[in-house]
Amino acid sequence: MKICCIGAGYVGGPTMAMIAHQCSEHTVTVVDINQARIDAWNSEKLPVFEPGLDEIVAGARGKNLFFSTDIDQAIRDAEMIFLSVNTPTKTYGVGAGRAADLRYIEKCARKIAEVAENDKIVVEKSTLPVRTAESVKRILESNSNGRKFQILSNPEFLAEGTAMTDLQAPDRVLIGGDQTPEGKLAIQKLVDVYATWVPRERVLTTNLWSSELSKLTANAFLAQRISSINAISALCEATEANVDEVAHAIGTDSRIGPKFLKASVGFGGSCFQKDILNLVYLCEHFGLPEVAAYWNSVIEMNDYQKHRFSHRVISAMFNTVSDKKIAILGFAFKKDTNDTRESAAIYVCQDLLDEQANLAIYDPKVEVEQIQRDLGIDADHPNVSYCKDAYAATRDAHAILVLTEWDEFKALDFQRIYDQMQLPAFLFDGRNLLDLEALREIGFEASGIGKG
Ligand code: UDX
Ligand code: UDX
Ligand code: ADP
Repeated sequence: MKICCIGAGYVGGPTMAMIAHQCSEHTVTVVDINQARIDAWNSEKLPVFEPGLDEIVAGARGKNLFFSTDIDQAIRDAEMIFLSVNTPTKTYGVGAGRAADLRYIEKCARKIAEVAENDKIVVEKSTLPVRTAESVKRILESNSNGRKFQILSNPEFLAEGTAMTDLQAPDRVLIGGDQTPEGKLAIQKLVDVYATWVPRERVLTTNLWSSELSKLTANAFLAQRISSINAISALCEATEANVDEVAHAIGTDSRIGPKFLKASVGFGGSCFQKDILNLVYLCEHFGLPEVAAYWNSVIEMNDYQKHRFSHRVISAMFNTVSDKKIAILGFAFKKDTNDTRESAAIYVCQDLLDEQANLAIYDPKVEVEQIQRDLGIDADHPNVSYCKDAYAATRDAHAILVLTEWDEFKALDFQRIYDQMQLPAFLFDGRNLLDLEALREIGFEASGIGKG
């Protein structure tokens, strides 16, 4: 089968690479309007950093995996077309700040309607509001001219940083489609693709709407766990409790489980906030304001947690960070990715810049230009410098903020760092990554999240 994927981003690229790697009998072409991105996918330095991705792409590229900007040709050739374009939160008009911006998805649907010469199976891979498949279907059907289109929803559950292992051994693959004979046939075609390497019982099939809603719900539940433990972290700081101990104690209840209970400076990433805002918008649309408010509080708690962290830093440092050098260790929204979308680091840095601090930023994978775009600053902003490692960032600093849990930060020589800092040497661990007791023995004024 010939497969095409529109959108060569964090989801489309790795997912299609895995399908090509696992299914040598299928040919996969990933297309994008962004020429630079496609060039990067065809080069030695891929546009997405994911452990294990380089090897998988190198093994399949040029054999049954292709990256191209010839979108029309790829659509014409393919029997199955994945839509993996971005669906950011709308920034304009009705639903601004909450609803998903579906213009890229709609453009793709119209493109398929325009160029397809025969029947197609169209698979939604991007996270979309419930009933988007309906809109895609209507656009395709009203322009069908005798061609038949089947729409499937196949949400992606991979997490960045572990994308390749998540794709290799997913907890489940979810495929939603029409419950008509043609719909079931299309579902089966996609099931067969995944069944090449995913145990059949892990491939779940549902109707279209359940599949779309399951993706939003899964992300809302995951984010809710983080906001719940972060809420408790504030209480821990006000008392003598330790949030890591509380998380461990509750996580041993098999009904709760141990995962996703790590208190932090706040969750980031392209999905959680966007999907919850989407869910909130959907609830309001269907006249369910109480349900909307419930889920919106997950976002409110996350915003609170990010700003609470900056306020703690400022208040500990004698209520002023003006002109003080603050080392920012980590800018990505989590470790093992170069992605900064919605990273808590952006908000914390902005709070500190508002207070006229001097920031020295180091992240092992994030590009300097990306940081500048995220902070909305020029390359020559006088209060921000970019460092090649943690030692340079911490030289003469008044404080260190750990904002991403990169493994390499655990292996730093903190005595060496302490010796080159201003005193008192503050360290705020926004990820509960470091051994605070050991740091205090060196002399640091060290504090974490949710530790009294
Ligand atoms: C609860 C805790 O489970 C227990 O660990 C603690 O020590 C005391 O409080 P209990 O109230 O006896 O125990 O029963 P539980 O099984 O937790 O159910 C509480 C309520 O939640 C019931 O009304 C139950 O019907 C409801 N429930 C439970 C749901 O509506 N849905 C569920 O999925 C689970
Ligand atoms: C998430 C979902 O996990 C994934 O299934 C979905 O397909 C996309 O959204 P991702 O955003 O890539 O994946 O990363 P994830 O590991 O979920 O982390 C999201 C954010 O939550 C990160 O900022 C992370 O640091 C934070 N987090 C996660 C916590 O603060 N505490 C935790 O216990 C777990
Ligand atoms: P995600 O995390 O969902 O993969 P990304 O922003 O990383 O999101 O990737 C989405 C990709 O989709 C981008 O590379 C963008 O250029 C591409 N894209 C958006 N609209 C179109 C379109 N109409 N045709 C082809 N590619 C598109």
